[in-house]
Parts: sequence; structure tokens; C-alpha cells
Amino acid sequence: KTISDLGDLRGKRVLVRSDLNVPLDGSTITDDGRIRASAPTIKALADGGARVLVCAHLGRPKGAPEARYSLAPVAKRLGEVLGTDVVFAEDTVGDDARAKAAVLEDGQVLLLENLRFNAGETARTDEERADFARELASLADVFVSDGFGVVHREQASVYDVARLLPHATGDLVSTEVDVLRRLTKDPERPYAVVLGGAKVSDKLGVIGNLLGTADRLLIGGGMVFTFLAAQGHEVGKSLLEADQIDTVKAYLARAEKEGVEIVLPVDVVAADAFSAAAAHEVVAVDAIPADRMGLDIGPESSRLFAEKLADCRTVFWNGPMGAFEMAPYAAGTKALAEALVDITGRGALTVVGGGDSAAAVRQLGFADDDFGHISTGGGASLEYLEGKELPGLTVLEEGDA
Ligand code: 3PG
Repeated sequence: KTISDLGDLRGKRVLVRSDLNVPLDGSTITDDGRIRASAPTIKALADGGARVLVCAHLGRPKGAPEARYSLAPVAKRLGEVLGTDVVFAEDTVGDDARAKAAVLEDGQVLLLENLRFNAGETARTDEERADFARELASLADVFVSDGFGVVHREQASVYDVARLLPHATGDLVSTEVDVLRRLTKDPERPYAVVLGGAKVSDKLGVIGNLLGTADRLLIGGGMVFTFLAAQGHEVGKSLLEADQIDTVKAYLARAEKEGVEIVLPVDVVAADAFSAAAAHEVVAVDAIPADRMGLDIGPESSRLFAEKLADCRTVFWNGPMGAFEMAPYAAGTKALAEALVDITGRGALTVVGGGDSAAAVRQLGFADDDFGHISTGGGASLEYLEGKELPGLTVLEEGDA
């Protein structure tokens, strides 16, 4: 069901689960992409006369309030993006939230404090989450699920609340699912997936599944050194997950058998410490000095990756190519983004997945519409491509309680 299926919402209290988990430097929001992506649903509801209660999490507090994880700065930014005041409740389901929800007027927006200040939000079992879910549901008449970045979490505000209230899928979740479905169901080919980021163990599931759907798999970022080690290269002091080498070897063999091309860097930027000020040089992957660590893919690799993407009609990218936050190691991620922008201009569907990758491209100066789609979900988009069942989507398909 979509929001329009909920009928006239004037005067109704609508609880919206958004993903407003943005990166913060102190109380300064360094990337507001998720707030901007969440705003249209909230605005549409408010414009329709609903009394909108937005709930969201920030970071991973341990079930109790912690000042550094307060959503107060997010309430302010959300108000600026919406062009209206957003009322902020200093608790999630406590006295302040109840009092402010009670006096909320038609078309007004209230943001509740961080859901994860309540242990019931993330508790493992249905029973442990039940009380909190009930308290949350009691604040509203209907529920709209619009936090795509959290649909892979079986949590009170994502999963249990949908079982307690009449509910609908928000527009952001619908859009994200539509795009990702295009990647999994008969993508236009050649279809390439570019994976980066630090840990190969986080990506094993998705790599396994992609070996059945993608034509090319391009690997960069810290996880590449486990691949290089699996091919017998010395990786010096680079990031290495030694316990994954055998798994990676098996994947390389499977890829060969299934005709999936795995593209690895041919050179890297090797530094003598994890620091922007460290001495660094470009070296071939078979000549990484024992006392150095690879912190970015090198220029030859960037050229190779661009070449492998040039004729692609569909590309999904998750994870930076290097330690892009430090200028000397940003070139690989920037070159990859440029290659994607280029093919987007020629009509390919390009999808940048993940909070971190999205923040990376914006930090490097790219605009959202340079790409086909920038997903707000990191873990969620990977789990979708992995073919896993996502509890926050399954529960919406179950229909109303
Ligand atoms: C994300 O940042 O991927 C989402 O907001 C989910 O956050 P979590 O990984 O802490 O559940």
C-alpha cells in the first residue's frame, strides 16, 4: 500500500519511520543527504493536513540517552529543508513526546528523540521489543515506513510497529526498491558491480550472490588486499583479513567458472603510515614494499576501471576505492565517480549505494543528479542485492493487522 491508499489523512496522527542517521562532526551535519531524501514524504503528509510524527535513530547508542547522539541538530536541519518549523521532543515515547504529540496541529511536524535511547528498539526478541513498539504505536493512528536505510533491521520502529497500526510504504522506500529491483531482475548488460571499503568479510554475501548476476566485478578499497593476497601477492602492511583468503580463492575460482570477470587494481598508492602526511608512492601490486600499506588504487588502475565501465549499461557501486578522507588517497574514488558520471551521461543506469559512498561522492564535489540514483541505504542495499529477506519490507507485504 502507498500513502494515497491510506485515504484522507487530515487531522490524523501519522508516525513516519525515516532514516535520518547522518554523519556528524560534533553537532555539525557533514552530509545531509538522508535528510533531503526523507523530506518529500514528510512534506507531502504535512501538506495533506496530517499531524506528522517522525521517528529515527542516530548512531548506535546502547539503549539509553547519550547527548552526542541526540537528534536535535537533525530537527533543525529538517526544518530548514522543509521550510517549516519542526517541533522536537526530548524523549521518544515519554512525557515530552506525549505532550507535544497531543498539541500537534494539522500540517505540523514533530521529530521524536533518537529511537535507540530506548532498549526496546533494538532488542533481539519480539517479546523484548513489544512494550516499546506498543508505546510508539499508541502515539499515532497510522504508520508510514520510509526509512529505506533500516529496512534490513528487525527493530521496533521498522518491524513491530507495522504490525500494530494500519500502514503504508513511503515514497522513498518505493523508489529505492524499484531501482534495486532493476539491478536484480534482468539488468541491462553489461552489468558491473564495483565494491570498495575496508572489510571483505562485510561483502562476502553480496559477492557470492553477484557471481550469479553481474558480468564484471571491480574490487578496490581496503578489501582488495585480501584478494591480492589470495592471488599470491605480498601486501606489506596493508589491511588484510588472513582468515578470508581461502574463501576469496574459492570465489575467484567460481567467478572463472561462471564467466564473471573479476577486475583488480594493477597499482596502488603505498604509504608508510595511515596519515595524510605520510611518505607515499605509486607501486605495482607485485611490488608493495614490506613496510608500506596501500591506501588507494593507483592511476593505472583508475584507467583500467574506467575502461571496464565504459561500455556498461548498468553499474552498482558501494564503498570508496581508498582512504578518500585524506587528500593524497582520494584520486581513485574521484576517478571512479568520474567514470560513472561519464556513462550516466550516455544513458547507463548508475547506482551509488550506501551512506558512506554517497557522502564520499558529495564530499568530492559531485552532485546527486550526476548519477542515476544515490541510495540512502548502505547495509540495506547490499542485503537487497544479496537476495536476503528484509524484515522491514516483508512486514509491509503482510498487510494490516
Ligand atoms: C545505516 O547507516 O546504514 C543505517 O542508518 C542503519 O544503521 P545501523 O547499521 O546502525 O543499523
